[in-house]
Amino acid sequence: AALLHTTAPAASTPIKNVVVYGSGLMGSGIVQVAAQNNFQVTMVDLSPEMLNKGQGYIQSSLQRVARKKFADSETQQQQFIDEIMTRVKTSTDPMAPAESADLVIEAIVENVQTKRNLFSSLDAVAPRHTIFTSNTSSLPIARLAEATAPERVSRFAGLHFFNPVPQMKLVEVVQTPQVDAVVVDDLVNFCLALKKSPVRCKDTPGFIVNRLLVPYMMEAMRLVERGEATPEDVDTAMKLGAGYPMGPFQLADYVGLDTMKFINDGWFKEGEGLAGKELVSPSKTLDELVKAGKLGRKSGEGFYKY
Ligand code: CAA
Ligand code: NAD
Repeated sequence: AALLHTTAPAASTPIKNVVVYGSGLMGSGIVQVAAQNNFQVTMVDLSPEMLNKGQGYIQSSLQRVARKKFADSETQQQQFIDEIMTRVKTSTDPMAPAESADLVIEAIVENVQTKRNLFSSLDAVAPRHTIFTSNTSSLPIARLAEATAPERVSRFAGLHFFNPVPQMKLVEVVQTPQVDAVVVDDLVNFCLALKKSPVRCKDTPGFIVNRLLVPYMMEAMRLVERGEATPEDVDTAMKLGAGYPMGPFQLADYVGLDTMKFINDGWFKEGEGLAGKELVSPSKTLDELVKAGKLGRKSGEGFYKY
């Protein structure tokens, strides 16, 4: 309780309880790696159905890990999974879990107002020491931090994981001009505790990876729209000619086409240094697929059928 009332939280924050908002592709993966590495985690989503879906993602991912680890024993596989799942709680109430959170990780839909609303209400109930982070792909962290009180702004950063979270080693720790250096160090150490490789970067559109990756993927869509090659051939070309594990269309389907569209449209409209630029101009094909509810792997169809 003493921690809750310190006025200058310049000291390092012991992180035990983690609350993850969003149980989709990213949220479920973050919950999984946190629980695998001995953190107590609460996964929050809007409905029991969404939470079930998230738990399903975690179960099937853990099964892959368990099968490799205990190839000969189904009992041991199940024990391994059950032990990890003892550290995972779920909730449809966003507020109660925040009251005992040391670290909040937001991984809900890529919409600035929805995220700001969530952060603003969490700020009212979370203890002073709680570190707030967003897994946003494309939104300025400072815009999200502004939705909280000034004391929280210095404890607010980006914590950007990559899909699939259990497999991808990188986490970008995104620093606003206001964030406390101790908070950034705590987040770097948290990533190391998850056995990830953190990099530090500034709060610019797309940070490091997406600034480079998203324009490349959008240009692949425009290339096909210009009739220069098929999606299949572009994917083959980038896998065999550039050594990428997935081609840009496979990767777009993997990321989620709605998420791709939120990212790119946002930058085209108001990305710092990117607004109105050819680099992020919209793709008609992407717009049509999203309109038709074809969101990629997560909905069973995107550029490809699954
Ligand atoms: N959970 C647990 N284990 C998993 C897993 C998961 N979700 N996915 C794959 N694995 C494991 C497999 O069990 C397998 O393990 P072993 O080699 O020990 O047997 C290993 O990973 C390889 O899996 P696969 O053979 O099934 O697949 P693969 O070799 O084709 O690799 C991949 C799959 C890692 C996804 C690879 O295709 C890849 O790296 N793709 C590119 C992903 C990428 O670029 N992600 C970034 C997207 S952008 C982003 O995330 C940022 C944003 O803001 C939008
Ligand atoms: P997703 O569509 O798979 O999941 C989003 C989840 O958030 C859904 O389950 C939805 O019900 C839930 N949600 C929406 N509003 C909520 C609220 N107010 N409270 C609680 N839950 C809420 O999306 P995703 O791919 O997991 O992306 C989540 C975030 O991570 C986005 O900001 C996205 O840009 C970012 N991100 C995505 C990827 C990727 O490859 N998909 C990679 C890195 C970062």
